[in-house]
Amino acid sequence: MLSGVTERTLILIKPDGVKRRYIGEILGRIERKGLDIVALKLETVTRELAGTHYAEHEGKPFFPDLLEFITSGPVVAAVLEGPRAIAAFRQIAGGTDPVEKAVPGSIRADLALDGGQNLVHGSDSVESADREIALWFPELA
Ligand code: PPS
Repeated sequence: MLSGVTERTLILIKPDGVKRRYIGEILGRIERKGLDIVALKLETVTRELAGTHYAEHEGKPFFPDLLEFITSGPVVAAVLEGPRAIAAFRQIAGGTDPVEKAVPGSIRADLALDGGQNLVHGSDSVESADREIALWFPELA
């Protein structure tokens, strides 16, 4: 049986998810998948934190819109833990483009239309997860 090593991942419910009252819906999907929520908070993101979190995208055409959006209202930040947690969350989130990439049944395919306002973020590798967890929850690092 495939099981996979236990990992931690950093996820965000972006401002559109909070505004649209999908916190419970999204956390419910995470819990039903079987991932543990080991840290959780609601926070309004500063431009400094947003810029550091998304530093790899600095210089891309969408970067100003990305910073504007992610600082536009509170987000939920959480650390999830479980077997292959990084890929497991990205599976239930769906691809970045909710229409062209996200698979039906995923959060983005079911609940979003836009590649920017796409409800959630999840770390994309062990290295990113370590960096993002240290940034958002330094007490866990
Ligand atoms: S890339 O260049 O292929 O790596 O970019 P991509 O994976 O498509 O997107 C990276 C993250 O930027 C977000 N994004 C945006 N946010 C707001 N407005 C606009 N216009 C926009 N375009 C892209 C996208 O949702 C990705 O966010 P995360 O949180 O990493 O999933």
